[in-house]
Amino acid sequence: NNMLAWQRTAFHFQPRKNWMNDPNGPVYYKGWYHFFYQYNPFGAVWGNIAWGHAVSRDLIHWRHLPIAMVPDHWYDINGVWTGSATILKDGQLVMLYTGSTNESVQVQNLAYPADPSDPLLVDWIKYPGNPVLVPPHGVGPKDFRDPTTAWLTPQGKWRFTIGSKVNKTGISLVYDTKDFKTFELLDGVLHAVPGTGMWECVDFYPVSRVMENGLDTSDNGPGVKHAVKTSLDDDRNDYYALGTYDGTTGKWTPDNPNIDVGIGLRYDYGIFYASKTFYDQEKKRRVLWGWIKETDSEAADIQKGWASLQAIPRTIVFDKKTGSNVLLWPVEEVERLRVNRKVFHKVKAKPGSVVSLDVGSTSQLDIMAEFEVDQEALSRINGTNTTYSCTTSNGAAQRGALGPFGILVHTDNDLTEQTPIYFYISKDSLGNLKTFFCADHSRSSEATDVNKAIYGSIVPVLKGEKLSVRILWLRHLL
Ligand code: FRU
Repeated sequence: NNMLAWQRTAFHFQPRKNWMNDPNGPVYYKGWYHFFYQYNPFGAVWGNIAWGHAVSRDLIHWRHLPIAMVPDHWYDINGVWTGSATILKDGQLVMLYTGSTNESVQVQNLAYPADPSDPLLVDWIKYPGNPVLVPPHGVGPKDFRDPTTAWLTPQGKWRFTIGSKVNKTGISLVYDTKDFKTFELLDGVLHAVPGTGMWECVDFYPVSRVMENGLDTSDNGPGVKHAVKTSLDDDRNDYYALGTYDGTTGKWTPDNPNIDVGIGLRYDYGIFYASKTFYDQEKKRRVLWGWIKETDSEAADIQKGWASLQAIPRTIVFDKKTGSNVLLWPVEEVERLRVNRKVFHKVKAKPGSVVSLDVGSTSQLDIMAEFEVDQEALSRINGTNTTYSCTTSNGAAQRGALGPFGILVHTDNDLTEQTPIYFYISKDSLGNLKTFFCADHSRSSEATDVNKAIYGSIVPVLKGEKLSVRILWLRHLL
């Protein structure tokens, strides 16, 4: 009986029980952070999809509320699927979401708070004129879902985008509306990338190249870049790219076509999908939510009665140092959970060694580590022709001249279960350095029915920069 081995999380959001997938309609409203999510009220597998609902003052401590919306009309009877919130000019809130109809056609529906003066937004009304949008000509009935938050056009209309595909080309359709009841489909698309397949949960938002704060979804101007994110149905990962948005034509162009949406950068190289940002007008930041599907088997999910979690919300900003990517960091509120502090200075890690650090008995850790590489040794090492990759280079067990080094997150003293989070620096025959950041799950669990992949990717490192790691860690007490 391994009941005790099924651990709930401590840092990450979970409903009390049952299945959860995508984050939906995150928004800050009258003093509360609202979080909705794809939820099966009747079991630990996907199905009967409704909108679960929770609220928080700090994005860390959550209060579970009654289910916000259930499948109860012909236009969403097969599921109240993913959607987004928009705050109108007068402060009113609207939700646009996808409904799977009685014939499993994907349509867009409108919902709004029954009582806008209720800060908890407990009751929701579906617009009697639903659906407000059906798949347009040339778009498949099952390829039309997950509307974004709307933003204002120079003409003062609201505009949003919905992911789709045409053959194998992933696309994002653009609509304008004045009232969220009647809509105009724009000619052309926000963006299209051949070969990427269906675009789920598209996200679109501005980032500032000059300021520290996040931007409201409608903000635009000379110091602004726009990010497009898609969740690739075929590949099950979230990809983004930075580029320029033209408010007049409603088109977006990537800065670098070689790392276009779906073929280049990812937010996260672990399990992270269907993510969505929102603008937090209280703290002037953009916050990212993302779903972590668990790697337990379906049988284990059913036995334990729950599946999935949401990664702790992250602040997202443009990386001014590289100019090529965004930076993610757990929201600052998580630091309020810290009670004791232990500092270890100048720890030397020799090749092939495991150095243990005594942190006492604690169940939760927020680890910040900084690694300084011996530059002299680095310059002495000869480059090789091997192409390193986190996923295919034998993980933490493969010793090279410049790695792996990092943190061994282990569950017990004999290291029977351990997850190395590590860096690996590769040097090619021309002397070019590449830094990889990986997580090796191959020895993470004694259970046999979980996915034990090795995750990770190359990370941009400036010359001479220290390598820093942040780990939010929960001890699994057996
Ligand atoms: C993404 C997704 C969305 C859809 C929802 C249904 O995980 O497939 O495209 O709206 O989940 O639960």
